[in-house]
Amino acid sequence: MTGVLVMGAGSVGCFVGGLTQLAGVPVHFVGRPRVLAHLREHGLRLTDQDGLDRHIPPPQLRLHDAPPAGLAPDLVLLCVKSGATASAAAALAGILPEGTPVVSLQNGIGNAAQARAVAPPLRWHAGMVPFNIAELAPGYYHRGTGGALAAEGGSDDTALAAWQTALARVGMKLKLHADLAPVQWGKLLLNLNNPVNALSGRPLRDELLQRGYRRVFAALQEEALNLLAAAGRPVAQLTPLPPRRLILLLHMPSVVFRLAAARMLRIDAQARSSMADDLAQGRTTEIDALCGEVVRLAASLRRTAPLNARMQALVEAWPQRQRPYAPSELLKALGLS
Ligand SMILES: NC(=O)c1ccc[n+]([C@@H]2O[C@H](COP(=O)([O-])OP(=O)(O)OC[C@H]3O[C@@H](n4cnc5c(N)ncnc54)[C@H](OP(=O)(O)O)[C@@H]3O)[C@@H](O)[C@H]2O)c1
Repeated sequence: MTGVLVMGAGSVGCFVGGLTQLAGVPVHFVGRPRVLAHLREHGLRLTDQDGLDRHIPPPQLRLHDAPPAGLAPDLVLLCVKSGATASAAAALAGILPEGTPVVSLQNGIGNAAQARAVAPPLRWHAGMVPFNIAELAPGYYHRGTGGALAAEGGSDDTALAAWQTALARVGMKLKLHADLAPVQWGKLLLNLNNPVNALSGRPLRDELLQRGYRRVFAALQEEALNLLAAAGRPVAQLTPLPPRRLILLLHMPSVVFRLAAARMLRIDAQARSSMADDLAQGRTTEIDALCGEVVRLAASLRRTAPLNARMQALVEAWPQRQRPYAPSELLKALGLS
């Protein structure tokens, strides 16, 4: 590959883009001044739970505050949060040659389609990042969980196939799927814990060890799964347990859950969902790309998704409240107590 462009150098962009560079591919990072300043000062350090610890020194990083004109990358990775998709797609459309493949490595279901509507000449692929990445220090990104990257495409997509080969050199798997929707919905179901975690005000591990929060997470998932079944949409299994069995596990008493979900609980003690950070810093959250997507699925079936709708409303009302919900308060707010 002659070059990859990362649009949105944050947690996902720096980690996946950094890995791609470590695999020997020239990578250009487009990011905000805060992140670029950190990378210029410290370089880019990547670690993971499997013992990876690599550093790319500042002079080897190609950093830009906007997509550079005249660049013709083989592949672009769209790594902004959902609320920034349209503006990022418009910025890319202004400079990239027609037909350039772009993979959306974003959560949710509709980002690639939204970007395609803004920039139809580019070739958009949905993608999925299964693992958690946290910025541990300026210029330092850590992968805290595992799994293979996924993207919509086939072996005849030459840029994707070349990226797949490159990533394999650094031990990262990329699976290509003709239809990524089942994988995206599987990930969305798991991401329905993000708003629960954000409203709990606790680290993920602490939150998951409280049965009341797990009941809320399970109820949001169950509502979504019932709608997906009604719509005849398949859901990929991304955890050791199939989605319905996971719901049963979440309902178990905490002593049982702690033993049965030991693998799920292998999370850094202080790790939180990025939605928790967004609330703390007064940023727009991705709630519309998660619960909002379930509400839209319900509407497409002329049904409702009252739990996901209520959860979306609670997250959007956070600026007026700014006080974490105890498990019993959250159950009550959703009408589950
Ligand atoms: N972090 C994870 O563990 C993880 C895992 C799986 C999937 N995801 C998904 O991946 C996506 C990215 O998440 P993230 O955690 O990497 O977000 P992030 O850390 O906020 O990174 C995105 C970066 O892109 C910047 N940006 C936005 N628009 C831009 C533009 N036009 N030009 C240049 N930079 C721009 C953002 O700046 P501003 O903040 O100023 O907008 C931010 O610095 C989300 O959809 C998320 O749900 C994240």
